[in-house]
Amino acid sequence: MTPPLAVSQNVVDLAYVAAAVAFIIGMQRLSSPKTARSGVWVAAIGMAIAIVFTLLLPEVDNYGLIAAALAVGAVIGAISARKVKMTAMPQMVAVFNGLGGGAAVLVAYREFDRLAPLPGALSGDVLAAALFSALVGALTFTGSMLAFVKLQELMPGRPITFGGQQLVNAALIVAALGFAVAGGVTEDTAWLIGLIAVSLGFGVLFVLPIGGADMPVVIAFLNAFSGLSAVAAGFVLGNNALIIGGTLVGASGTLLTLLMARAMNRSVTNVLFGAFGAAPSGAAAAVSADGRTVREVSPDDLSVMLAYAKQVMIVPGYGLAVAQAQHAVRELADILEGRGVAVRYAIHPVAGRMPGHMNVLLAEADVPYPQLLDMEQANPQFPRTDVALVIGANDVTNPAARSNPESPLYGMPILDVDRAQNVVVMKRSMASGFAGVDNELYFDPRTAMLFGDAKASLEKLILVTKSA
Ligand code: TAP
Repeated sequence: MTPPLAVSQNVVDLAYVAAAVAFIIGMQRLSSPKTARSGVWVAAIGMAIAIVFTLLLPEVDNYGLIAAALAVGAVIGAISARKVKMTAMPQMVAVFNGLGGGAAVLVAYREFDRLAPLPGALSGDVLAAALFSALVGALTFTGSMLAFVKLQELMPGRPITFGGQQLVNAALIVAALGFAVAGGVTEDTAWLIGLIAVSLGFGVLFVLPIGGADMPVVIAFLNAFSGLSAVAAGFVLGNNALIIGGTLVGASGTLLTLLMARAMNRSVTNVLFGAFGAAPSGAAAAVSADGRTVREVSPDDLSVMLAYAKQVMIVPGYGLAVAQAQHAVRELADILEGRGVAVRYAIHPVAGRMPGHMNVLLAEADVPYPQLLDMEQANPQFPRTDVALVIGANDVTNPAARSNPESPLYGMPILDVDRAQNVVVMKRSMASGFAGVDNELYFDPRTAMLFGDAKASLEKLILVTKSA
């Protein structure tokens, strides 16, 4: 069946330019929480234009199958977008990346298998693009699916290592390259299938040794790879929209990977090959190695402390997201502001488990943007802050990052909460955070701990503050 309104390639290419402009404007708008929503819409409209005009190409047929696939994809996408929790967003992105890589593999296989038997039909560039797409797409597929399984806690998130792992990985890479060369020379689909199989295996082994909480960086990395495989699939099909879209995904994924690694003061190689987060220290004691103990505070005492404060800095972390305490924190801030206390939020770039995690969480509770300070703005404020209220944040406040060259966190820029007049930390126990290291802050004489689930503690605090 030919399209109802077949249009020429030139018209389609013009539409692709419009789509590309929409993608770029959309991404630009995603850089601020204020414009992010409209950015998503602009990019989605760009994608709709690209899809509609592709369907109008004369060579496109099989509308029945395409409509069925679109319907299934749209239903699954809409349901999961509505149901997925903020904390599960990295998993969702992992699945999307994986499916992108998987689709690129199918395109590469289909075109290779279709063209290979026709003499001279597989030109050099299409052949190379198909082999590249198969390799990168397949490892992106299994790597992303394993990232999903780890983050969803369907298997332990810790790094899984075994003897000779590097050797096995190296052997797989050599085998993949061998299959790719053989496939390129012989144009025999059997080699392509071998290449896909080996790359699928490599994706699993590549992600296995990576610790669960490093997964966001890996996901950004695999995101870049899914973009690259889409670019290659675009060359296989001669489709400019895929080439442009894939390039944008590849570039943004690469930038995000680098930015995240930099904010954690770790190299990308250390994240990908360092088996970091390997040693969770378990429940740490409330007594330090040199005999210092932690000081506890009750919600009543904290309420009094806050009542006398002029400036309060809230420092949110991963625990705030786990406890879903964003609305409670906003309510407390409103009460304090109503009583003349200046409340600000100090946002560390890698607080939480994904880029912008805290901003999104606080935006959900309608916290006004001007109250959110980034690390550079917040740090000079701490010495004149009366109370730094650390809610479910740990690593991003650990002074060892400044002072202890032995610490895995050493060199990571942190929020200088220990320079505030008083520090109150809300968390459930003395357990360590993502990096698996103890936090000296908790033994500082200026620090007091309010143990418990962040939401429950905040609700108690709100109750006593309201009745004061
Ligand atoms: P973490 O260092 O992971 O600390 C979070 C703390 O929250 C834990 O110590 C935990 O202590 C507490 N917590 C958990 N559930 C809680 C609840 N229901 N109520 C109260 N507290 C709760 O988090 P952070 O300070 O936000 O630092 C983020 C870490 O993740 C950094 O090491 C960063 O490098 C890493 N990371 C971030 C990203 C991005 S892009 N954001 C990506 C990869 C890795 P208890 O168990 O005692 O409650």
